[in-house]
Amino acid sequence: MSGLAQAQHTDGQPTLSERADALEEHMMHELEHIVTKSVLFGMADGKVEMESGPALMAKNPGKYMLMGEDPRLPKMPDKPTLIDYFRCRFASTSHLLQSATHALKGGHSEKVVLACLLHDIAVVSFIRCDHGYWGAQMIEPYVDEEVSWAIRAHQALRFFPDESAGYAYPDMYVKLFGPDYQPEPYIVEEYKRARNHKHYMTSRLICVNDIYSFDPNAKVNLDDFVDIIGRNFKQPKEGLGLDSSPSAHMWRTMLWPSRFL
Ligand SMILES: [Fe+2]
Ligand SMILES: [Fe+2]
Repeated sequence: MSGLAQAQHTDGQPTLSERADALEEHMMHELEHIVTKSVLFGMADGKVEMESGPALMAKNPGKYMLMGEDPRLPKMPDKPTLIDYFRCRFASTSHLLQSATHALKGGHSEKVVLACLLHDIAVVSFIRCDHGYWGAQMIEPYVDEEVSWAIRAHQALRFFPDESAGYAYPDMYVKLFGPDYQPEPYIVEEYKRARNHKHYMTSRLICVNDIYSFDPNAKVNLDDFVDIIGRNFKQPKEGLGLDSSPSAHMWRTMLWPSRFL
């Protein structure tokens, strides 16, 4: 049923989206606190809107706004590590593990393996749009500059082949975006800058090891990377997100995505 047809549903029965809203409302009432959605969450449903604090309080008498962890989400430890985010906040890890396993078997450096392991963390936990930039920013304070630079640049490099490095434009992108898709000018400029950078090849190796045809039967295990993470990711003693790094707030947002403020 198209969105328009749903909106014009007039047989007296609730539409699909009305039923979803009612269910969500019901679930909110089951919770001890009022859980709010950031505006960005609604934009993904095509709505630019927000409910004010007083309106929510009026609908939920006797309850306060959620200002901590969301009981519906997997419980995180008091001092979370990167591994905890892998286990409790990343919606899917098989692509990351397959890419990193591929790089490990290819005999690449630990920095390359770590870059492959983390290259799409923004996609699986945070925001898809410009995921290379978000992902790089999230890890920047905790890794060598080579790793974060490579993750940022893979946003652009993956659209441009480099046959000498063994990277062709992915068939998958033709399927996903159509044969006429052209990257925006800022991506083209980023690519040109990256070409001559000293870490170009690290970023290119993310593309080369990016597995586009996922093998659901491939045996991959996060345990294979615990030591590499330990040696190359500076885990803050307060817990990742509870420290004072320039990107700690991004990790906190994943810890508590539905906090009111
Ligand atoms: Fe990516
Ligand atoms: Fe990827």
